[in-house]
Amino acid sequence: MKATAIAPANIAFIKYWGKKDEKLRLPINGSVSMNLSNLTTTTTVEFSASLESDSITINKQKDARDERRVIKHLDRIRKLASKDIKAKVVTENNFPTATGLSSSASGFAALSVAGAKAAGLELSERELSILARQGSGSACRSIPAGFVEWLDGDTSKESYSITIHPPGWWDIVDIVAVVARDKKDISTTQGHKLADTSPFFQTRLAKIGEKIIGVKKAIRERDFAEFGEIIEAEALELHAIMITSRPSLLYWLPGTIQVMKAVKKGREESLQAYFTVNTGQDIHIICEREKTDEVVNRLKKISEVKDIIINKPAQGARLSNKHLF
Ligand code: DP6
Repeated sequence: MKATAIAPANIAFIKYWGKKDEKLRLPINGSVSMNLSNLTTTTTVEFSASLESDSITINKQKDARDERRVIKHLDRIRKLASKDIKAKVVTENNFPTATGLSSSASGFAALSVAGAKAAGLELSERELSILARQGSGSACRSIPAGFVEWLDGDTSKESYSITIHPPGWWDIVDIVAVVARDKKDISTTQGHKLADTSPFFQTRLAKIGEKIIGVKKAIRERDFAEFGEIIEAEALELHAIMITSRPSLLYWLPGTIQVMKAVKKGREESLQAYFTVNTGQDIHIICEREKTDEVVNRLKKISEVKDIIINKPAQGARLSNKHLF
């Protein structure tokens, strides 16, 4: 059977950085995120006894490393479905891949939903989140809708994501400033392994529980200033850990820093907006919806900003009948 799914990328407000189990992708701490309406992956999967090997096409290209990761995920699905047949997978992102915009989150969420359906499995949201997590940790947050928390469980069946508020809960936007289309040179999966080499990592972990409580309270109360202060500090802390890892990880480009400075300057001029960044050069600016134009106009004045993508809080991964083949 053939099945297609669409899944959003998500932006983490409190980040997943470091794993307590690498193979199962159990995170060292919980995290909180929001699904993004305009950064999506569409994936079609078909299992067929007539195929001699798996055939994987990602963004119209063949990439051996990405292919291996997808095949490993197909193996997880085959195991769950007790099936031993090969699959054809075609997947497309509507945004740049591997520049820090969480393409692995939308990618593995879409692959899990389409793959499970194509294999004849009927999985619950929780089971799909657990499956997606094993492909890429952050993908488990792209399964449920809206504002999401990844629960920090100690076993595979306890480590999944849930909706904390639906997409319509809060009218905030995530404006992505694309500052380069180059792929990052160190993958996020490699980066996670270095987290505990930073001398500041234990300090981060000691405070992370409080931070999760704080950001959830700010979202619940729709307290934008409190929310913004927490998420921007969290992003800078994540990068402080990366920069002080051994070897150090430096993902920012000059354009990333220019945007950071513009956001801070905006606040001095009472434009309430805050930034956050993942493992890459592209940067997310979060503001309330009515401030969108003002933020976009400022970004357009920065020559390093190559593209701007505006996202609302979005639904989670879902099936679609628009197959890619
Ligand atoms: C910095 O989910 O991409 O974006 O589990 O190795 O695939 P793997 O890592 P991934 O890590 C995301 C890290 C982050 C923060 C976050 O999204 O929480």
